[in-house]
Amino acid sequence: MQDTPTVAAIIVAAGRGLRAGGEVPKQWQKIAGKTVVEHSLNLFIEHPRVSEIILVIAEDDRDHAVSLGLDRIATIAIGGADRSSSVQNGVTQAQADRVLIHDAARCCCPSDVITRVCDALNDHEGAAPALPVTDALWTGAAGVVTGVQDRSGLFAAQTPQGFHRDAILNAHHTNTRPVVDDVEVARRAGLDVGIVQGDARNIKITMPEDFARATKLLETPLDIRTGNGFDVHRFGDGDHVMLCGVKVPHERGLQGHSDADVGMHTVTDAIYGALCRGDIGQHFPPSDPQWKGAESHIFLSHACALAREMGFEITHMDCTLICEFPKIGPVAQSMRARMAEIMDLDIDCVSVKATTSERLGFTGRGEGIAALATVTLIKGTIA
Ligand code: CTP
Ligand code: MG
Repeated sequence: MQDTPTVAAIIVAAGRGLRAGGEVPKQWQKIAGKTVVEHSLNLFIEHPRVSEIILVIAEDDRDHAVSLGLDRIATIAIGGADRSSSVQNGVTQAQADRVLIHDAARCCCPSDVITRVCDALNDHEGAAPALPVTDALWTGAAGVVTGVQDRSGLFAAQTPQGFHRDAILNAHHTNTRPVVDDVEVARRAGLDVGIVQGDARNIKITMPEDFARATKLLETPLDIRTGNGFDVHRFGDGDHVMLCGVKVPHERGLQGHSDADVGMHTVTDAIYGALCRGDIGQHFPPSDPQWKGAESHIFLSHACALAREMGFEITHMDCTLICEFPKIGPVAQSMRARMAEIMDLDIDCVSVKATTSERLGFTGRGEGIAALATVTLIKGTIA
């Protein structure tokens, strides 16, 4: 069986963006928290089929690209006077069998479009996304309609345009005329180019008003969540208790499969709750011997990592410990500091407080400690 062909993305970002205007070329303007170039790079960094990325920029923008750390995620190539020479400089640097040539200005391209282009390259020397033209087409001159153009069989072209690397490089070398895109270069050289389904969201930032459309497409809608947690551990033999990551001397210990840190378990459960991802027992079954005596920061760190993976930022947590003894007041600051460290939060966003239950119930009788927690998680931006 043949090896799976490797795929490189060539992102051309060396133009001057004259039509879009602004103080810096359109691809270096920031929308939805990042430059347009970074959004475009992310499309390919996150795509499972792409193993190599070449970013083509103008010589003058090299320092800016390095200051953003882009040289660590892509091979930097320097562009030419026209788009076609920028493409050639990029493709020349690529090692992969196939190349996806993409305009940095199309920073909202859905992942499926990239997949469709990759798939079509198994049957064609080139493949590109396009949408059938749906608007009526006219010819016009001096502000008046001079004719009507049949739109049947017409497509509006998008990128990434994919090719077998050597075929498109040869096609560029032999081409001498100005071209609109790489499909035109390929067709001149006699390559067959398949059309795959494009996407209306795959817009190219060209005019100033396109920034607002692209921003809307890139922003994730605001998602604010609160999660609650509750946990109880029974007292047993011992000379200390672990509470919110702090060892507190006490005439009794807390019983549990792990280190029985009831505060940390409660906060961990609150995070799972906000994420709708079950509870601590599902992630770390008490029946599993590997968690015997485990330090509870392992559980809390797991929940925090899961939140980050799901795109959430934890912005606040509040934990209440319910017990008569030990007294929490004197150690509450240390607990806040330790919890803030594990959760990678500012200490001002971390609260640990305590209450007694007025000697009522199991906490009042000193049979165990209960804990409650609330956490707040945020993803996205206001649309
Ligand atoms: N491009 C490039 N090198 C050039 C010209 C264009 O790498 N010499 C890139 C642009 O940065 C853009 C893509 O090709 O990502 C598509 O070109 P276009 O939308 O025309 O961008 P600009 O040429 O920068 O804009 P304008 O034509 O408005 O000046
Ligand atoms: Mg241009």
